[in-house]
Amino acid sequence: MRIPTGLRDRLMEANGRLYTLSVDPGHRVYGEKLIMRGGGEWREWSVTRSNPAAYLAVGGSAFPIKRDSRLLYLGAASGTTASHFSDIVDQGTVHCLEFSARSFRDLVRICGRRGNMIPLMGDATRPESFAFAVGDVDIVYQDVAQKGQATILADNMDAFNAGRGMLAVKARSEDVTASPHDVFVEAHRTLVSRGLRVVECRTLDPHEKDHAMIVVER
Ligand SMILES: C[S@@+](CC[C@H](N)C(=O)[O-])C[C@H]1O[C@@H](n2cnc3c(N)ncnc32)[C@H](O)[C@@H]1O
Repeated sequence: MRIPTGLRDRLMEANGRLYTLSVDPGHRVYGEKLIMRGGGEWREWSVTRSNPAAYLAVGGSAFPIKRDSRLLYLGAASGTTASHFSDIVDQGTVHCLEFSARSFRDLVRICGRRGNMIPLMGDATRPESFAFAVGDVDIVYQDVAQKGQATILADNMDAFNAGRGMLAVKARSEDVTASPHDVFVEAHRTLVSRGLRVVECRTLDPHEKDHAMIVVER
């Protein structure tokens, strides 16, 4: 597992597991293990429940998030992965977009405990409808698991002037009949056609079947 340079104060590997330094000590978000190290409390970042953790576990080396990043998270669900991003960007912000009312209730509760996580209810396919609440960001992270995943990422990067993006592609959400490889190639092609450079594309097996992480920049 490769810990990105500049993040060793926020992200660590111990005994083959990944941890983030909690900005909300004493509280779990999804039942994760907590350990004490160096005077701080660290939360285990599950590689089977979180795509970016799986990406790091399979050797992903283009992790674009920094401590002071302003992040827009599309498809935050109840905040599992977003809470780890919140630990990492202790000097930045995570705007968390979700359109399911049920997930949003949990998300609001978690955001309320963390000063750098902002909940937004809205539809990722319509960035103009929530732009008033976000402003420019550095990175868009996209995990909405619906058709047109690459286009949604590119539209939001354009709308919020983001220089970098991470796309967690779920092949089955794009087309249940297509081979995952073909879906990843098509997503890659769409991103390039939108003027983005693909920095890295990795499948997340064995942690997440039929998923890939694509990291892009302008
Ligand atoms: C795979 S789950 C995300 C899991 C989450 N990223 C995590 O790792 O903790 C996909 C989420 O995207 C949300 N979603 C799907 N389409 C969306 C859209 N157009 N706008 C906003 N959220 C959407 C779903 O409600 C669901 O909660």
